[in-house]
Amino acid sequence: MKEKIFKKIKINGVTLKNRFVVSPMCQYSSSNGSPVSWHYKHLTSLGNSGAGLLMIEATAVEKRGKITHSDMCLENNTQYKKLKKLVKNIKKNSDIKIGLQISHSGRKGSTELPWIKPNSTLKKKSWKTISSSSIKRELDWPHPKEMNDNDIKNVKQKFINSTRLAKKLDIHCLELHMAHGYLLHQFFSPISNKRQDKYGGNLKNRCRFLLEVARLVRKNWPNNKILGARITGKDWIKNGINLEDSIYLSKELKIIGFDYVCVSSGGLISKTDFKPRPNFNFNLARSIRKNCKIKVRVGGMIDDINFAKKIINNNDVDLISNARKYIYEPNFILKELSKLNPKNKIVPNQYRRCYKI
Ligand SMILES: Cc1cc2nc3c(=O)[nH]c(=O)nc-3n(C[C@H](O)[C@H](O)[C@H](O)COP(=O)(O)O)c2cc1C
Repeated sequence: MKEKIFKKIKINGVTLKNRFVVSPMCQYSSSNGSPVSWHYKHLTSLGNSGAGLLMIEATAVEKRGKITHSDMCLENNTQYKKLKKLVKNIKKNSDIKIGLQISHSGRKGSTELPWIKPNSTLKKKSWKTISSSSIKRELDWPHPKEMNDNDIKNVKQKFINSTRLAKKLDIHCLELHMAHGYLLHQFFSPISNKRQDKYGGNLKNRCRFLLEVARLVRKNWPNNKILGARITGKDWIKNGINLEDSIYLSKELKIIGFDYVCVSSGGLISKTDFKPRPNFNFNLARSIRKNCKIKVRVGGMIDDINFAKKIINNNDVDLISNARKYIYEPNFILKELSKLNPKNKIVPNQYRRCYKI
């Protein structure tokens, strides 16, 4: 019998051919915010991985919201046109559905390329970052500027602008990045948000900015296409975000009309209680699905395909997100499929001999 993980799923008006999702992966290789030849190589090969949905990397809604100078950005017409050309190219040889993650780095911006010096701020050509509060991310990082009402208004406008540009890209899914210690997460977590106004204090106030952005994005994104958010299930820090907080956020996102949440965790600061282990976000994701009745994607070292099959069969989660596995084992879905169903249509004709089908 065909495994459920290989079965179609309809989310809003879009049908994914299976439950596998290529997680967004920043390449820090863009030129003036636009994709370069590396992105063509990277994303067109992932387009042939056999997954149902390919998420394009965290793309900044404004220049100040990049992590490094070389991040992708969707703020102007040139960036839009270059990204559209890339999307068209991925589609040429693949029927994979395509999503884009939009993001603002907040205080986690103005950093070195990770392969030059990981987790380190720029010494030259740095920029002033913004955040919920003027709290440094690490001891040796600069203080970000605490966002005032005008900054909040401007950033919301940037999210609207990127959403409108994304709408013209011919993609199927848009995802708001609310995790991994970036700006929206900085508002959500009591560790980074010490504001005294309506955007700080209790959980409802700390969610306010996230939900205001979410409502605006919902309003500007087509009703029949997929809209989701990547959220943090846990900060792995004492007095930080925990499951009850992320359940509240997910319920509110569902009310606004979001189709899914992708449950991730960590990333707010570098020293936490987090210990990497297989499937580390799974329990959080399962609880969120059970409590919020929203579709849930989960990622985080779900490298054992039998485990992935089991949690999809049990209806614990709806989608499986992998990042690194697609890099070191790019054809794992095709291999698995050709074992299970030699008549599958996912292996490209040109490669069928390689799989003895
Ligand atoms: C090279 C690389 C770039 C990443 N960039 C992003 C990103 O743009 N947005 C995001 O939400 N997560 C990003 N992540 C996190 C992954 O999407 C994923 O959640 C994480 O790697 C855990 O999944 P895995 O164990 O399957 O790799 C990145 C991870 C890697 C390895």
